[in-house]
Amino acid sequence: MTDYAMLAGQAKEMLEAEPWYVAVFSNISALVAALVPDLNWAGFYLMRDGKLTVGPFQGKPACIHIAPGKGVCGTAVQRDETVLVPDVHEFPGHIACDGASESEIVIPVHAGGRVAAVLDIDSPVKNRFTPSDREGLEKLVKVIEEGVSWA
Ligand code: SME
Repeated sequence: MTDYAMLAGQAKEMLEAEPWYVAVFSNISALVAALVPDLNWAGFYLMRDGKLTVGPFQGKPACIHIAPGKGVCGTAVQRDETVLVPDVHEFPGHIACDGASESEIVIPVHAGGRVAAVLDIDSPVKNRFTPSDREGLEKLVKVIEEGVSWA
């Protein structure tokens, strides 16, 4: 079990020390990878020129661009909501960046009322993400939205 309250508290301290998005996304990727067990990829894709572009992450090199509506990440952008996938092999259009991934959760990050990025987390374990992981990760994203500086 992950202590998401502690994770959010550490993220808040990081944001207070330095709100620049590159520092925030880099350290928060590392924080998630260190504190959430059974992951093979954790990081951010950022909206640029109408599509997602890979940003700071922990894991194997990943797909660079994802269009809105494509894969789990693009679906989260299009729907503007968290997408939790218990089994990536059952998700039509899933983009397999790391063949080890079995389940995935993607949470939109907003700026000015629009999706500016997504937090993407992959696990090599099927059904890895529970409703309480979802709730904890959504709280983490709220902390990011409240404190991050996009410039
Ligand atoms: N699986 C994602 C692609 C990104 S990787 O997981 C890092 C997707 O279907 O959007």
